[in-house]
Amino acid sequence: MNALPTVYFYDQGVEARDFTDEIVVGLSKTQKTLSPKFFYDEKGSQLFTEITRQPEYYPTRTETQLLRDHSSEISQLIGEDFLLIEYGSGSSEKIRILLDSLRPSLYAPLDISRDYLAQAAEALGREYPWLEVHATCVDFTVDFELPFESEKRHVSFFPGSSIGNFERSDAMEFLSRIRSLVGADGGLLIGVDMKKDINVLNEAYNDKSGVTADFNLNILEHINREYGANFDLGRFRHEATYDVAQGCIQMFLVSTCDQSVSVAGHNFQFSDGEKVHTENSHKYTVDEVLGMAVDAGFSRAKTWLDEDELFGVFYLYSE
Ligand SMILES: C[S@@+](CC[C@H](N)C(=O)[O-])C[C@H]1O[C@@H](n2cnc3c(N)ncnc32)[C@H](O)[C@@H]1O
Repeated sequence: MNALPTVYFYDQGVEARDFTDEIVVGLSKTQKTLSPKFFYDEKGSQLFTEITRQPEYYPTRTETQLLRDHSSEISQLIGEDFLLIEYGSGSSEKIRILLDSLRPSLYAPLDISRDYLAQAAEALGREYPWLEVHATCVDFTVDFELPFESEKRHVSFFPGSSIGNFERSDAMEFLSRIRSLVGADGGLLIGVDMKKDINVLNEAYNDKSGVTADFNLNILEHINREYGANFDLGRFRHEATYDVAQGCIQMFLVSTCDQSVSVAGHNFQFSDGEKVHTENSHKYTVDEVLGMAVDAGFSRAKTWLDEDELFGVFYLYSE
């Protein structure tokens, strides 16, 4: 007889939380800013999955191949009988590559995109009936505790170079929070996008089909729907360029005319050409990742790179 899938779902208050203040504060700055977490409503999550399939977007296929090529070594390093916590699990595609060899006792995906997370957890539970899934809808940029108890060793998985969305000092702090959560005898398997040829980077964030542009613009649609705004998507355009000095792709929405927009009763003026910052995607060297890991309290690391050194997967030991 087949085991029945066991899927639990927890909401850490994301649904009830009002992000209006955060949006208003961001748009009131001299450099208008919207946090990248607002990309991810259900449509945003779907568009991100579509981005990963674009020929220019090398990170997903490169990271996926690294995980495939090294899955047995990764499993050996991680060991047995542990709780696996994935940060920003999205469609939970990448963990499928490792599940059969890793065989975690429990899998805990964390994501801010509620419905997408719930669907992904259900689908995973059906596909892997032996796996106990504890999915949590949470904003992982604020302090949180896992909503369930487990005596098992904790290991985290943070793929997709989402660490690159944090400013460098914040990235180190975030890693140190993961280090505290996994504690001694745990670890973190993390995927990080490497510094490389500028053209490769610029093309990856400006795909010819315009999916990244749609993804960027969807942040306005999300805010219109959830936060009572009246952005006209036809009056903004996508821009993404690599800033060499900062070592990051900077993504903006550029106003294409002088205009006024209302957000939750607050009025904001945009001049023609004015940019709203939506995302940074920092790129790293191997030494920068390892330095940050040590600063965050991890003791040792194992590194895997593809032959073109586009992307790195690191297992960071917490001892
Ligand atoms: C770049 S996607 C990566 C998805 C997947 N892990 C991958 O590697 O393809 C980022 C994921 O993190 C989630 N996310 C973004 N900001 C978040 C936040 N503040 N708290 C929790 N999840 C967040 C998004 O919903 C999305 O699923």
